[in-house]
Amino acid sequence: MAGGFIQEELKRLKQQGLYRKLRRVEGEQGPTLMLDGQEVLDFSSNNYLGLANHPALREAAKEAIDRYGCGSGASRLISGNMALHEELEANIAAFKGTAAALVFNSGYHANIGILSSLVGEGDVILSDSLNHASIVDGCRLARAQVVVYPHCDLERLEEGLKKAPVAARKLIVTETLFSMDGDEAPLAEIVNLAERYGAMVMVDEAHATGVFGPNGAGVVAKLGLGDRILAQMGTLGKALGAFGAYVAGPRELRELLINRCRSFIYTTSLPPAVMAMAIAAVDLVYKEPQRRLALWHNCRALRDGLRSLGYSLGESQSQIQPLIVGDAQKCMALSEQLLQKGVFAQGIRPPTVPPGTSRLRITLMATHTHDHLHRALKAFEEVKNEDCKM
Ligand SMILES: Cc1ncc(COP(=O)(O)O)c(C=O)c1O
Repeated sequence: MAGGFIQEELKRLKQQGLYRKLRRVEGEQGPTLMLDGQEVLDFSSNNYLGLANHPALREAAKEAIDRYGCGSGASRLISGNMALHEELEANIAAFKGTAAALVFNSGYHANIGILSSLVGEGDVILSDSLNHASIVDGCRLARAQVVVYPHCDLERLEEGLKKAPVAARKLIVTETLFSMDGDEAPLAEIVNLAERYGAMVMVDEAHATGVFGPNGAGVVAKLGLGDRILAQMGTLGKALGAFGAYVAGPRELRELLINRCRSFIYTTSLPPAVMAMAIAAVDLVYKEPQRRLALWHNCRALRDGLRSLGYSLGESQSQIQPLIVGDAQKCMALSEQLLQKGVFAQGIRPPTVPPGTSRLRITLMATHTHDHLHRALKAFEEVKNEDCKM
C-alpha cells in the first residue's frame, strides 16, 4: 500500500518536538479534570465561565431532546432549520446589539465561510499575523490577495490598505482577543483605518464572547464599535460552554451568507440539544455577571502570583496568560513537569504559534477556587526551583 511517507513524516515531527498526541478526559469539564486517569487542575480549557457542566445547560439539552429528538436531519436550507436555530439567532442578535445573527456549526466553519463569501479573486484581505488557523484557511479559500500585517501593527496595516487596488473590495480581519497571547487588537484604530480606506471589517470574538464588555458581549461591545463593524463572529463552545458559532451583523449579511456561504449551506445543521444549551448559556451570561468578576479576580491572583515567583509575563490582560518558553521541546517538558504535579497547562508549539515562541498557554476559569490557584502556584514555584530555564 502506498503511503510510506507517513512513517517518515511522523518521525520528523517527533525529532522536531512537534509530535502531538491526544489526551483522554473522563468525567466532566470542570476546574479539575480526570486526564489520562490522573486528577489534575485544568488550566488549559476555554471553558472560561465554567458553563460547560452547568445544570441549566444540562437541563436545556435534556428538555430539547425530549421535545425535538436528537438529530436535525438536514442542512438549514433543506429541512434542518428548526425553531431553536432561529430562537438562538434572535437571542444572539439582541446580545450583540445587531440587526441579525446566523449560527454556524463551529468557529472553523464560520471563519472559512464568511471570508470566502465576502471577498474573492481580485480583492484584498488584510489579516493580522497572529490570526487563528481558521482565519488563515478562510483567507486561502477566498482566493483573494492576502496581506498579512505584523501583529497589531497599524502602520503596516495602513500601508497594505494604501497599496490595495482602488477597485478591489478590501476586508480587514482580526481577532479581538488573541487566542494564544491573550492581548487585545487595537480595534478602534483598525476601524478608523478601515473607514478611511473604504475597507470592511470582520472580527473574531471567539475568546472575548462571554468574557469582555457589558453583559459579556465582547470587545466590540466594550468599545461601542458595533455599528462600524460588518461581521462579528464568535463561538459558542468556549466561554458559553456549548458548541457552535455565530456571526452577528446587518440583516443583509445574514441573507448573503444563507445564499453564498458554502460552510453554512453544505452541512447538516446543529442538533436541537446544542441549540438549547447555547440559548441557556447566552441567558446565563447576562444573568450571572458574578462569573466574570470571579474570572477577573482569578486572573489577577494568578498573574500576581506568577510575577512574585519571578516569571516574566507579557502583554496579556485577559484570562489567557502565555508563559513564553521559546524552544518547543523545553516547553513540552515544562508542561509535563507541571502535569506530574497535578497541573495541566498545555504547551503550545508551531505551527499553532510562530517558531521560537512555544509557550504554556495558561487559561483561567471563573470556577477556579483560591485553593486551586494556590496549588497551581505552588507547582509553578517547584518547577522553577527544579531549574527549568524560562
Ligand atoms: C480565535 C479562534 N477562532 C476560531 C476558532 C474555531 O472555533 P471552533 O472551535 O468553534 O471551531 C478558535 C478555536 O477553536 C479560535 O481560537
